[in-house]
Amino acid sequence: HQPVEIDLSKLAPGQQMTAVWQGKPIFILRRTPEDLARLQSPTLVNELRDAQSDALQQPTYARNWHRSLVPEYGVYVGICTHLGCVPAYTAPAAAPDQTGRYACPCHGSQFDLAGRVFKGAPAPYNLPVPPHVMPTPTTLRLG
Ligand code: FES
Repeated sequence: HQPVEIDLSKLAPGQQMTAVWQGKPIFILRRTPEDLARLQSPTLVNELRDAQSDALQQPTYARNWHRSLVPEYGVYVGICTHLGCVPAYTAPAAAPDQTGRYACPCHGSQFDLAGRVFKGAPAPYNLPVPPHVMPTPTTLRLG
C-alpha cells in the first residue's frame, strides 16, 4: 500500500473530512481550542469507557490525552468498533450541549472528538489511530 497524502489547508477549525486509506474511511478533524479543552474536562472523561485507550495498541505519538500527533488534528479510523458501520459527525456548534461527537447509525455507539467511546455503547473500544505523519503543518500523510 502506498501512503496517501492529504491537503488540510482548506479544513477550517471545527470541520472534519473523510479520507480513504487502505479502503477504510479515515476521519480527519480540526479541533478548536474549545474542543481541546472539552476533551480534558473531567465531566467528559468520566463518561468514557476507556479514556486512556488502554484496550488498544496505538502509535506512541497518539498515547496522550488528544490521541494524535498534533492536538489540533484528530485522525481516526472511521469504522465503528462494534460491527463496522461508519459513525456520523456532529459538529460542536450543531450539538445540543456544544460537545461534538461521532454517532454510529447502527446501534447507537457514540465517540468523542478524540475517537473515545462513551460508556454504555455496544462498541467495545475507541476508534483506532492510523499511522500518520505531518510533513508540513497542513499536510497529512497516512501510512
Ligand atoms: Fe456501531 Fe453497532 S456497528 S454501534
